[in-house]
Amino acid sequence: MSKRQHRGLGLLGFILVMVWPIVAIGQEDLGNPQNGKVLFEKHCMHCHGVKGDGDGADTQFLMVGPANFHSLESRSKTDWELMNIITFGAIFSPMHDWADRLTEDERWDVLRYIRLLAPFNPVARLPISPGGNG
Ligand code: HEC
Repeated sequence: MSKRQHRGLGLLGFILVMVWPIVAIGQEDLGNPQNGKVLFEKHCMHCHGVKGDGDGADTQFLMVGPANFHSLESRSKTDWELMNIITFGAIFSPMHDWADRLTEDERWDVLRYIRLLAPFNPVARLPISPGGNG
Protein backbone atom coordinates (compact mmCIF):
# COMPACT_ATOMS: atom_id res chain seq x y z
CA MET A 1 0.00 0.00 0.00
CA SER A 2 1.41 3.39 -0.94
CA LYS A 3 1.93 6.06 1.63
CA ARG A 4 -0.75 8.14 0.00
CA GLN A 5 -3.40 5.41 0.23
CA HIS A 6 -2.42 4.89 3.81
CA ARG A 7 -3.06 8.52 4.65
CA GLY A 8 -6.39 8.32 2.82
CA LEU A 9 -7.48 5.46 5.05
CA GLY A 10 -6.49 7.38 8.14
CA LEU A 11 -8.62 10.30 7.01
CA LEU A 12 -11.56 7.99 6.30
CA GLY A 13 -11.19 6.50 9.77
CA PHE A 14 -11.10 9.95 11.30
CA ILE A 15 -14.26 10.99 9.46
CA LEU A 16 -16.04 7.81 10.57
CA VAL A 17 -15.12 8.41 14.19
CA MET A 18 -16.35 11.99 14.02
CA VAL A 19 -19.58 11.23 12.19
CA TRP A 20 -20.56 8.04 14.02
CA PRO A 21 -21.91 9.71 17.20
CA ILE A 22 -24.07 12.01 15.07
CA VAL A 23 -25.51 9.01 13.24
CA ALA A 24 -25.98 7.12 16.52
CA ILE A 25 -27.78 10.02 18.22
CA GLY A 26 -29.90 10.58 15.11
CA GLN A 27 -31.04 6.99 15.25
CA GLU A 28 -32.18 7.28 18.84
CA ASP A 29 -34.77 9.86 17.92
CA LEU A 30 -37.17 7.46 16.24
CA GLY A 31 -40.62 8.75 15.40
CA ASN A 32 -42.27 11.76 13.88
CA PRO A 33 -43.75 14.13 16.49
CA GLN A 34 -46.19 15.78 14.02
CA ASN A 35 -47.84 12.47 13.29
CA GLY A 36 -47.51 11.60 16.97
CA LYS A 37 -49.53 14.67 17.92
CA VAL A 38 -52.42 13.58 15.69
CA LEU A 39 -52.34 10.08 17.20
CA PHE A 40 -52.03 11.42 20.75
CA GLU A 41 -55.05 13.69 20.31
CA LYS A 42 -57.07 10.82 18.92
CA HIS A 43 -56.12 8.00 21.31
CA CYS A 44 -54.39 9.30 24.44
CA MET A 45 -55.47 12.85 25.20
CA HIS A 46 -58.83 11.91 26.77
CA CYS A 47 -56.86 10.24 29.58
CA HIS A 48 -53.44 11.88 29.60
CA GLY A 49 -54.68 15.44 29.00
CA VAL A 50 -53.97 18.03 26.30
CA LYS A 51 -50.44 18.68 27.56
CA GLY A 52 -49.79 15.23 28.98
CA ASP A 53 -50.35 16.33 32.58
CA GLY A 54 -52.54 13.31 33.30
CA ASP A 55 -55.70 15.40 33.59
CA GLY A 56 -57.74 14.29 30.57
CA ALA A 57 -61.52 14.38 30.50
CA ASP A 58 -61.85 10.65 31.28
CA THR A 59 -59.80 10.80 34.49
CA GLN A 60 -62.98 11.04 36.53
CA PHE A 61 -63.90 7.49 35.49
CA LEU A 62 -60.52 5.94 36.26
CA MET A 63 -59.46 4.13 39.42
CA VAL A 64 -55.78 4.58 38.55
CA GLY A 65 -54.92 8.08 37.37
CA PRO A 66 -53.08 8.45 34.06
CA ALA A 67 -49.37 9.18 34.24
CA ASN A 68 -48.33 12.84 34.23
CA PHE A 69 -45.57 12.88 31.62
CA HIS A 70 -44.12 16.05 33.18
CA SER A 71 -43.45 14.32 36.50
CA LEU A 72 -39.79 13.61 37.18
CA GLU A 73 -40.73 9.96 37.45
CA SER A 74 -41.93 9.85 33.86
CA ARG A 75 -39.24 12.15 32.54
CA SER A 76 -36.48 10.01 34.00
CA LYS A 77 -37.71 6.91 32.20
CA THR A 78 -35.91 6.10 28.98
CA ASP A 79 -37.64 5.98 25.61
CA TRP A 80 -37.44 2.19 25.80
CA GLU A 81 -39.19 2.04 29.17
CA LEU A 82 -42.04 4.23 27.96
CA MET A 83 -42.20 2.38 24.65
CA ASN A 84 -42.62 -0.88 26.56
CA ILE A 85 -45.58 0.49 28.50
CA ILE A 86 -47.16 1.83 25.31
CA THR A 87 -46.61 -1.50 23.57
CA PHE A 88 -47.54 -3.92 26.38
CA GLY A 89 -49.61 -1.73 28.71
CA ALA A 90 -49.32 -1.29 32.47
CA ILE A 91 -50.61 -4.14 34.61
CA PHE A 92 -53.73 -3.50 36.77
CA SER A 93 -54.36 -0.19 35.08
CA PRO A 94 -56.58 1.25 32.36
CA MET A 95 -53.41 1.77 30.32
CA HIS A 96 -53.92 -1.19 28.02
CA ASP A 97 -51.45 -2.29 25.36
CA TRP A 98 -51.35 -0.57 21.99
CA ALA A 99 -49.46 -3.24 20.07
CA ASP A 100 -52.60 -4.31 18.19
CA ARG A 101 -54.03 -0.85 17.67
CA LEU A 102 -50.97 1.15 16.58
CA THR A 103 -48.11 0.04 14.34
CA GLU A 104 -44.59 0.14 15.76
CA ASP A 105 -43.88 3.31 13.76
CA GLU A 106 -47.03 4.95 15.13
CA ARG A 107 -46.00 4.03 18.68
CA TRP A 108 -42.63 5.71 18.12
CA ASP A 109 -44.41 8.75 16.65
CA VAL A 110 -46.62 9.14 19.69
CA LEU A 111 -43.67 8.59 22.05
CA ARG A 112 -41.69 11.27 20.21
CA TYR A 113 -44.60 13.68 20.74
CA ILE A 114 -44.72 12.84 24.46
CA ARG A 115 -40.97 13.55 24.63
CA LEU A 116 -41.56 16.88 22.91
CA LEU A 117 -44.12 17.80 25.58
CA ALA A 118 -41.94 16.53 28.42
CA PRO A 119 -38.29 15.86 27.47
CA PHE A 120 -36.23 13.02 28.91
CA ASN A 121 -34.44 14.12 32.08
CA PRO A 122 -31.95 11.52 33.33
CA VAL A 123 -30.98 13.73 36.30
CA ALA A 124 -34.24 12.83 38.00
CA ARG A 125 -32.92 9.29 38.33
CA LEU A 126 -30.12 10.24 40.73
CA PRO A 127 -30.82 9.13 44.31
CA ILE A 128 -30.26 12.65 45.63
CA SER A 129 -31.57 15.27 43.26
CA PRO A 130 -29.56 18.46 42.66
CA GLY A 131 -32.61 20.28 44.04
CA GLY A 132 -31.47 18.95 47.42
CA ASN A 133 -34.52 17.08 48.68
CA GLY A 134 -32.43 14.25 50.11
C1 HEC B 1 -58.00 4.86 29.53
C2 HEC B 1 -57.06 5.88 29.82
C3 HEC B 1 -55.74 5.88 29.08
C4 HEC B 1 -55.54 5.97 27.74
C5 HEC B 1 -56.56 6.07 26.63
C6 HEC B 1 -54.10 6.01 27.54
N1 HEC B 1 -53.45 5.90 28.73
FE1 HEC B 1 -51.44 5.86 29.05
N2 HEC B 1 -51.72 5.57 31.02
C7 HEC B 1 -52.94 5.52 31.64
C8 HEC B 1 -52.73 5.23 33.06
C9 HEC B 1 -53.82 5.09 34.09
C10 HEC B 1 -51.33 5.13 33.25
C11 HEC B 1 -50.60 4.85 34.56
C12 HEC B 1 -50.41 3.39 34.70
C13 HEC B 1 -49.83 3.02 36.05
O1 HEC B 1 -49.11 3.84 36.63
O2 HEC B 1 -50.09 1.91 36.49
C14 HEC B 1 -50.73 5.35 31.94
C15 HEC B 1 -49.37 5.30 31.72
C16 HEC B 1 -48.78 5.59 30.50
C17 HEC B 1 -47.36 5.63 30.27
C18 HEC B 1 -46.27 5.33 31.29
C19 HEC B 1 -45.76 6.59 31.92
C20 HEC B 1 -44.77 6.32 33.01
O3 HEC B 1 -44.12 7.27 33.43
O4 HEC B 1 -44.64 5.18 33.45
C21 HEC B 1 -47.17 5.96 28.96
C22 HEC B 1 -45.86 6.16 28.23
C23 HEC B 1 -48.48 6.11 28.36
N3 HEC B 1 -49.44 5.88 29.32
C24 HEC B 1 -48.70 6.43 27.05
C25 HEC B 1 -49.96 6.43 26.46
C26 HEC B 1 -50.17 6.61 25.05
C27 HEC B 1 -49.09 6.88 24.03
C28 HEC B 1 -51.50 6.51 24.84
C29 HEC B 1 -52.25 6.62 23.53
C30 HEC B 1 -51.79 5.81 22.44
C31 HEC B 1 -52.14 6.28 26.12
N4 HEC B 1 -51.16 6.22 27.08
C32 HEC B 1 -53.49 6.13 26.32
C33 HEC B 1 -54.18 5.69 31.05
C34 HEC B 1 -54.41 5.81 29.71
